[in-house]
Amino acid sequence: MLSNSLDVRPVSTAVGAEIHGVDLAEPIADDALNTIRRTLADRGVVFFRDQRLTPGQHVALARRFGTININRFFRHADGHPEIALVAKEPDQTMNMGGMWHSDHSYDREPAMGSILYARELPRTGGDTLFASMYAAYEALSDGLKRMLEGLRARHSSRHVFGEVKGDLKGRVGNPELATQDATHPAVITHPQSGRKALYINPLFTLGFEGWTDMESRPLLEYLYRHGVKPEFTCRFQWQKGSLAFWDNRATWHYATNDYHGENRLMHRITLEGGPLG
Ligand code: SIN
Repeated sequence: MLSNSLDVRPVSTAVGAEIHGVDLAEPIADDALNTIRRTLADRGVVFFRDQRLTPGQHVALARRFGTININRFFRHADGHPEIALVAKEPDQTMNMGGMWHSDHSYDREPAMGSILYARELPRTGGDTLFASMYAAYEALSDGLKRMLEGLRARHSSRHVFGEVKGDLKGRVGNPELATQDATHPAVITHPQSGRKALYINPLFTLGFEGWTDMESRPLLEYLYRHGVKPEFTCRFQWQKGSLAFWDNRATWHYATNDYHGENRLMHRITLEGGPLG
């Protein structure tokens, strides 16, 4: 077991921290696990470098943090249904996750977090950006905060995984399973940090409950622009052995698509969350 000698280094003011001094392939001591959990809840995303994980070790790591969600829309790693493939191949122009979003807000109990491990990377590019929904909420005016606290938002997977377009078609999605919609409060109180966070999703939110999609759109568009102000973000440059673990209740992320003609293969494990209110 490893003792708790973790070195936590924030990577920007609002979001993200690199954690050094832990080998994620080994069983992690409880105190180190608690430091990782606390940092994840506070910073929204934690990054690790120079890790060497087999798929089995990736699964074992994820199980230390919660119950694994078996993804119903993504292809899986051979022999590991717990691991969803986030892949872009040389013949593709579209990538997965190439717009701001959080994972699984269309579920009634949205995912807590996702653990992404780099398997194959392009020579340059393919970075992932993260935005803090704590910072985005906190920077709103008192008037808009009050209004949003009374609202729930409607989320769906139907328009994304039910009707996959372009060269992602056949690689991701399933119309038969893209049926369950959900509503969640537009502002949540994070269950671990106790901080308020904006909880809408540029990819999966359709509108506010009791509002039409067209009525919702101007306010959503404003919040989508606001949520990704550079001050609320950080950018992670992947290297061989990098791993990112983000909290879907506290952040959005964006996979940059700037490496056409090359391969990028990531293994993602998503952890179950709970009801958001
Ligand atoms: C995702 O959107 O879940 C994947 C992000 C990435 O590939 O960087």
